[in-house]
Amino acid sequence: MKFRLLGALAACAMIFASVAAADPIVIKFSHVVAENTPKGQMANRFKELVEARLPGKVKVEVFPNSQLFGDNKVLEAMLLGDVQMAAPSLSKFKRYTKKLQLFDLPFLFSDLKAVERFQQSPEGQKLLHATEKKGIVGLGYLHNGMKQLSASKPLRVPEDAKKLKFRIMSSDVLAAQFKALDAMPLKKPFSEVFTLLQTKAIDGQENTWSNIYSKKFYEVQPYITESNHGVLDYMVVTSREFWNSLPDDIRGEVKKALDEAIELGNKVAYEKSVADRQAIIDSGRSEVIELTPEQRAKWVAAMKPVWKQFEDQIGKDLIDAAWAANKQ
Ligand code: SIN
Repeated sequence: MKFRLLGALAACAMIFASVAAADPIVIKFSHVVAENTPKGQMANRFKELVEARLPGKVKVEVFPNSQLFGDNKVLEAMLLGDVQMAAPSLSKFKRYTKKLQLFDLPFLFSDLKAVERFQQSPEGQKLLHATEKKGIVGLGYLHNGMKQLSASKPLRVPEDAKKLKFRIMSSDVLAAQFKALDAMPLKKPFSEVFTLLQTKAIDGQENTWSNIYSKKFYEVQPYITESNHGVLDYMVVTSREFWNSLPDDIRGEVKKALDEAIELGNKVAYEKSVADRQAIIDSGRSEVIELTPEQRAKWVAAMKPVWKQFEDQIGKDLIDAAWAANKQ
């Protein structure tokens, strides 16, 4: 009897030791931007929160600056289980859904506040599920900012962009947008943009103030037109397989930490859209061109016909709902 009891105690101790020593769940979070950007700061805060609240249970490894995967590869890697989380730009989901092309339509949103209103609306929230059939779960939106046009020459009216080569993200809407200007769009990874600009293999690109500043594009682009012609935001994603494999309590804590980290990232996005713009002006390396209302109207007239080309793929109702967010 005594031996049986001792045996049972020993077995319990072994089980306890093996549970206590169980390896933590590892979340590899891969992204392409610098750490001082909205996405970089969001990912780092997410790590801090998760590891403080789930010590020894979950470990978050953040890989910034395309160290692990570029955005064009990261979703494939996620489906293979090589990374667990990422936050690609909404322009990089074309292979998984056509609906998110909505966010690339030029001059759809008047500012980031309108984007936020749409994302929080029922239609915007529904879009977080648009990639689920393909095994990708949308956990939330994150802002970066409105896009500006940088180039090797001043761009004041659409004709100025004619025949110039622009790097774009992997989006057919963005390709159509530059073709509408009679310019040449080239889909290239974010990690290659600086070198392409520096070597003059391309003439320009479109991006947010924080990306233009943190990746030093302004040092190799003498002109930036403050066009605010589109939005560059993100969807934080994971794979359905990984998400469903998490115990309920851990999944809940991870999601809560992510929501808080996104709140910080969004705050950084608003701050950087002002501060990084100013830092670029102060550097004196690049001239920031402000458009007159007449010039801006010409860019709108040149680019907006792109909406019609993608109306069937995106859905007119969705475009109308997004447009309505400008007026609230
Ligand atoms: C990003 O902000 O994640 C990259 C944007 C780009 O590819 O231009």
